[in-house]
Amino acid sequence: MLNNLKPQAPDKILALMGEFRADPRENKVDLGVGVYKDAEGKTPIMRAIHTAEQQMCDTEVTKTYAGLAGQPEFHAAMAEMVLGKGYPADRLSCLSTVGGTGACRMGFELARMANPDTTVWVSDPTWPNHLSILNFMGQGYKLYHYFDNATRSVDFDAMMGDLQGVKSGDIVLLHGCCHNPTGANLTLDQWGAVADLIEAKGAIPMIDLAYQGFGDGLEEDAAGTRLIASRLPEVLIAASCSKNFGIYRERTGCLMVLGDAATQPVTQGTLAFLNRQSYSFPPFHGQQLVTKVLTDPTLRAEWEAELEAVRGGMLDLRQQLSDELRKLSNSDRFDFVAEHRGMFSRIGATPEQVATMREKDAIYMVGDSRMNIAGLNEQTVPLLAKAIIDAGV
Ligand code: LMR
Repeated sequence: MLNNLKPQAPDKILALMGEFRADPRENKVDLGVGVYKDAEGKTPIMRAIHTAEQQMCDTEVTKTYAGLAGQPEFHAAMAEMVLGKGYPADRLSCLSTVGGTGACRMGFELARMANPDTTVWVSDPTWPNHLSILNFMGQGYKLYHYFDNATRSVDFDAMMGDLQGVKSGDIVLLHGCCHNPTGANLTLDQWGAVADLIEAKGAIPMIDLAYQGFGDGLEEDAAGTRLIASRLPEVLIAASCSKNFGIYRERTGCLMVLGDAATQPVTQGTLAFLNRQSYSFPPFHGQQLVTKVLTDPTLRAEWEAELEAVRGGMLDLRQQLSDELRKLSNSDRFDFVAEHRGMFSRIGATPEQVATMREKDAIYMVGDSRMNIAGLNEQTVPLLAKAIIDAGV
């Protein structure tokens, strides 16, 4: 049996992690996988998470099974963070998932169960694992233009032009904020125009919200999602807690599904069914940590302050890199670095230029020239800027 298996192409982002670790050079710079790092290159446990974890350790009395669809308190806390106070609870179904990736997968599964003929529309480019999961599922998808490589900003006209091809019942996958891999995001007006188009087509928006709090702020980063949720009758949202709570390995995510109140019980039951068929109960630990942090006022204030510091640090690094590139290139063609939001920017280098920077300068970025801004610090910003110019970007 096993000799029937074919080798799978390695995931590019995860393979890069391995290559970076294996590189013996001391001056190496990791701008690959989307993990936050402080100025010392460490990914710390956030203080509020640490306290919540200690409290859990002291008070937890059982490890028996918990909710199949997840914990209702976690769902309520997540819904309020993503959709805002006063979210329509009677229309909302929630599923705790294995990270944000699990939420994406379950969202695709739900869409396919409800409509086997659906096509998923995906931004070009997108997080490579979106396409990988869709391919693995045999789920049909189409790409819509998103990024203008020349200006390194959203090519909104091309995007809207492509989305004219959306059919009733199709899924339109959008990045809620901090677009991965480009860092270029829709304005609120553009979100409004996308909502109009999706509504007119009778399609269903699905929002991947993996970086809430990393762009312009917790509330600001949810603005597009909230606009869509307030306008469309059916919406899927895949929210990740990996980055904003720094609990990557706890695998904590939440799929939220808005529909009408009449169909909510069946939708909620279908979500629980999807967990049961896939892995039964979702991980509990991360749900509990997030619930504690979001609902305890002291922990929440501490977490929000730390998240703000993380966000502010990334914005400072963006500005420093943009300034340095302005100086070295004697032009404003890299100003987009300061305008992008979130962890990533696509710098616009060719695969050869990316390889040159890796070989010559020990700088690791994804082959499409996506760089993780959080992998930089004040010392490495000038080194990266020089490497970018030297490579001829
Ligand atoms: C990334 O894009 O680097 C992160 O979302 C990590 C991953 O799983 O790919």
